[in-house]
Amino acid sequence: MDAMERLTALCANRGFVYPSSEIYGGINGFWDYGPLGVEMRNNVKAAWWQRMVRERDDVVGLDTSIIANPETWVASGHVDSFHDPMVDCRLCKKRFRADQIDTADRCTAAKDHQHDLTEPRQFNLMMRTSIGATEDSSSLAYLRGETCQSIFLDFRRVMQSARKRPPFGIAQIGKAFRNEINPRNFIFRSREFEQMELEFFCLESEAMDWYEHFREVRFQWQVDMGLDREKLRWHEHGPEERAHYARVAHDIEFEFPFGWNEFEGIHYRGDHDLSAHTAHSGKDMAYTDPDTKERFVPHVVETSVGVDRTMLALLCNALVEDEIAGEKRTVMRLAPAIAPIKSAVLPLSKKLAEPAGRIARDLSRRFNVDLDTAGSIGRRYRRQDEIGTPYCITYDFESEEDQKVTVRDRDTTAQERISTDQLAGYLSERLLGY
Ligand code: GAP
Repeated sequence: MDAMERLTALCANRGFVYPSSEIYGGINGFWDYGPLGVEMRNNVKAAWWQRMVRERDDVVGLDTSIIANPETWVASGHVDSFHDPMVDCRLCKKRFRADQIDTADRCTAAKDHQHDLTEPRQFNLMMRTSIGATEDSSSLAYLRGETCQSIFLDFRRVMQSARKRPPFGIAQIGKAFRNEINPRNFIFRSREFEQMELEFFCLESEAMDWYEHFREVRFQWQVDMGLDREKLRWHEHGPEERAHYARVAHDIEFEFPFGWNEFEGIHYRGDHDLSAHTAHSGKDMAYTDPDTKERFVPHVVETSVGVDRTMLALLCNALVEDEIAGEKRTVMRLAPAIAPIKSAVLPLSKKLAEPAGRIARDLSRRFNVDLDTAGSIGRRYRRQDEIGTPYCITYDFESEEDQKVTVRDRDTTAQERISTDQLAGYLSERLLGY
């Protein structure tokens, strides 16, 4: 088994990620997040929101509808320009993204296994749907291809209601959809995914300073999430690579088991979006500075990261095999803030389930806690190590006498005896923050 196969199997078996609608054979490019996956996703989103919104006084949040007036996507350029090049094999009838044909992929219909490819054609990635009882061109709508467009549409409303003025930002987390030609690499490239985006509005003359600021902020956040620095690098887009809206673009890339790939983009979008929506809707998006009376269309610096790709990077980074006292184990070294279960309470014997349950219930008011009663203590430790639980708390017969429990650290496996009344404080110090 290679690293991705091992990770995919663990994710399915332990309840992180499953194929969507599996009993019907699944559906390419769609995934479900299980009980551990949803906890971890929520932790990732909360950590992003904390750093990008709550800890800043120049950013506010927003949550907009997935479907907007379809004119949005005409104005933004997505209907005309959000394309990938597509080729078909005339022999095996498989379809590929022209710029991503895997050299290991061999034609099953040709003797020499060489595909006979058509010339590249442009394929629009916007996912279409129809609204209402009739299905004609007037009912056509799009599932959003990026979450940020509605931020531009609501820009004036947010600015006025939140009493902000440039420089300030609007942040949003939400689902996005792309009709990807070739979804692949597990949750790396799917057709339904989630983005965490910040659009920061500022003066044109200050835009590149803000751009550099947000490059630093975003890189540091990825490091704080626990990603190894040496598995992260910057990639600057050349003119050919840049999206239709971007004037300058840098990706943060992670070294996945299938190679270096983008999982976050920082883009200088200029005034592309606000100017395009002004022209298309006839509603003026310019801003007048009340002090200088200067009137201008704000320029935008964007940070855009996928929840799913962040999850994949964190899982790939964390899953390791090590050896403790000559015994091999699989351990998920997730940062405590990201780990789906913060602590597992393990009664040494089933007879101790009741007092151990009381401790678990008490801690569960502050942390996501698991009460794990089944199997030998060694097996339970290994099960918790594999899903990244930072601390296991063992309740034994002595605990009845001295009101103390044994706390075991996932990474070092070192054990400490802690008083039950100090447990919540002990864990808080180690689990909260990131
Ligand atoms: N608003 C800018 C924007 O959407 P992007 O580079 O196209 O920029 C930003 O996407 C991020 O969204 C990517 O870095 C990636 O993390 C995530 N993303 C994009 N397409 C994806 C897909 N098909 N599956 C999973 N995540 C995707």
